[in-house]
Amino acid sequence: MTQVNSAGIPLNVPAHVHHQRLIQWVADIAALTQAKDVYWCDGTEAEYNRLCGELVAAGTMTKLNPELRPNSYLACSDPTDVARVEDRTFICSQKKEDAGPTNNWMAPAEMRTLLQTGQPDGTPALFKGSMKGRTLYVVPFSMGPIGSPIAHIGVELSDSPYVAVNMRMMTRMGRAVLDVLGENGEFVPCVHTVGAPLAEGQKDVAWPCNKTKYIVHYPETREIWSYGSGYGGNALLGKKCFALRIASTMGRDQGWLAEHMLVLGVTQPNGVKRHVAAAFPSACGKTNFAMLIPPAGLKDAQGNTWKVTTIGDDIAWIKPGQDGRLYAINPEAGYFGVAPGTNHKTNPNCMDSLQRDAIFTNVALTPQGDVWWEGMTDVPPAELTDWQGKRWTPEIAKETGAKAAHPNARFTVAATNNPVLDADWDNPQGVAIDAFIFGGRRSTTVPLVTEARNWVEGVYMAATMGSETTAAAAGQQGVVRRDPFAMLPFMGYNMSDYFQHWLSLGQKLEGQGVKLPKIYCVNWFRKGADGKFVWPGYGENMRVLKWMLERVEGTAQGVEHVFGISPRYEDLSWSGLEFSRDQFDSVIGIDRAAWAEELKLHDELFEQLSYHLPEELRQTKAQIEKRLAA
Ligand code: OXD
Ligand code: MN
Repeated sequence: MTQVNSAGIPLNVPAHVHHQRLIQWVADIAALTQAKDVYWCDGTEAEYNRLCGELVAAGTMTKLNPELRPNSYLACSDPTDVARVEDRTFICSQKKEDAGPTNNWMAPAEMRTLLQTGQPDGTPALFKGSMKGRTLYVVPFSMGPIGSPIAHIGVELSDSPYVAVNMRMMTRMGRAVLDVLGENGEFVPCVHTVGAPLAEGQKDVAWPCNKTKYIVHYPETREIWSYGSGYGGNALLGKKCFALRIASTMGRDQGWLAEHMLVLGVTQPNGVKRHVAAAFPSACGKTNFAMLIPPAGLKDAQGNTWKVTTIGDDIAWIKPGQDGRLYAINPEAGYFGVAPGTNHKTNPNCMDSLQRDAIFTNVALTPQGDVWWEGMTDVPPAELTDWQGKRWTPEIAKETGAKAAHPNARFTVAATNNPVLDADWDNPQGVAIDAFIFGGRRSTTVPLVTEARNWVEGVYMAATMGSETTAAAAGQQGVVRRDPFAMLPFMGYNMSDYFQHWLSLGQKLEGQGVKLPKIYCVNWFRKGADGKFVWPGYGENMRVLKWMLERVEGTAQGVEHVFGISPRYEDLSWSGLEFSRDQFDSVIGIDRAAWAEELKLHDELFEQLSYHLPEELRQTKAQIEKRLAA
């Protein structure tokens, strides 16, 4: 018999679902949102193909030419729904101080009135009736290998089939997760609506959304509620909302770390494999770094080369293992990367990953039915349909500046498409981290690479990191903002408490005699007087990575300066690259005047974060100032 809820909405609970709390919650959300019906995703390929077919029929997606891009689709969003909305993202902890000064906060009771229960003056709750005329998709997903002791489960209830198909690639999604949940397993409830109810007979638009947006987290009850957007991190709730904001609070409470970090494996020419986790703000090349191809010229005397393999490209969950070392897993199962700028030179492995089975969002369409974006080829096609469905030619672009692809256009692809996927990417135990890297996008001031002299100095570097803003978030671009640990938009609790969490974890592990990973700060983005990047970046970053790993091995030299330890020209390998001493000096040098200014910005940050700011960080700053003045 078909189960219906109190509102008469059919629940369609599959026979294999025995989790009463889950069923009740689905019933409650279906009643609140007045969804037309409920569909439980099983995660199969057949389901994926069917939903993609429906999205094509609805005009949300276009099927690409199967001869050029097999099994792939293009979705184009509403022009107002193209990026994460940081100013609409809320951490609703009981106490405002627990969200901290870097997060938007609203009292949970007030937010629930707004979203779930309605205002005393009779204004209805935003979620009330928000799914009218739409199917509610139940999307069970595991962040991390299904059943792994490190993994955690979420269930997203969404009225967007685009979300359902993307979640199938980005997470381990479907029936197997419900089996692990059993009758009483824990899950993070995630509710998502595009906020565009359909009246009886009303025709849908290709990308339904609402100009009002709320991306809401309740850290104490570990719930996520997202309203009004269908795009990326606003809507694929396993990613930023769960795996970073909610997971960071879980990590604080349980003694582990949820970080905005790629994780890569590096096999050295001698066969020894190391693992590195690296934090960069959004759209600063994490996916490129995670799939890096070492330059052909870098070889040992026997001709053995370096090899980089990908464990994750965006998020790491890191826990101390039995031996006290820090082990990382990638909680995701796919990549949601920035397309513009990706090409066969900057990231050939990524281009190969995208050869088939991909969903592209907001890139341009060629007349042959393939995709294109700025930077994909040196010479653009003569004619395209841009991401907003308009005719685009290089001539029009020259005249109007119109971009064929939106600067935050994305691809979604399963990790298993990656030709350099690490053999351990799915290992439930994770991989032991040897080094942490923190990098921002800075045209000036910050050297190419600096090693922290100790854990506290490394935490200071990460905490005070600045970066120029990118198109990954709505708002002004290219302005330097402090982005501690590249976590500014993703912290689920008070930033100063998070710094303390890092310091305490390091102190605890060191107290147990554990050799902590080394910490590095990098900047690939310094520019010369001509405004051009000086460092070639991409695969050449391997030269810097090599130095870092040789420092871990204890075989490379460096020199100390005010901020830490950096290599001299002769400490890096230059075979196969022409890069002069002068060029090197211009990316590694410490300009004292610029650093005096930089420290003023650290002061501003510390002022903002003064509540609970760890004393060790103030002391570290005082030491840097002393060295600068000497
Ligand atoms: C992302 C981001 O989508 O950081 O990964 O914006
Ligand atoms: Mn990211």
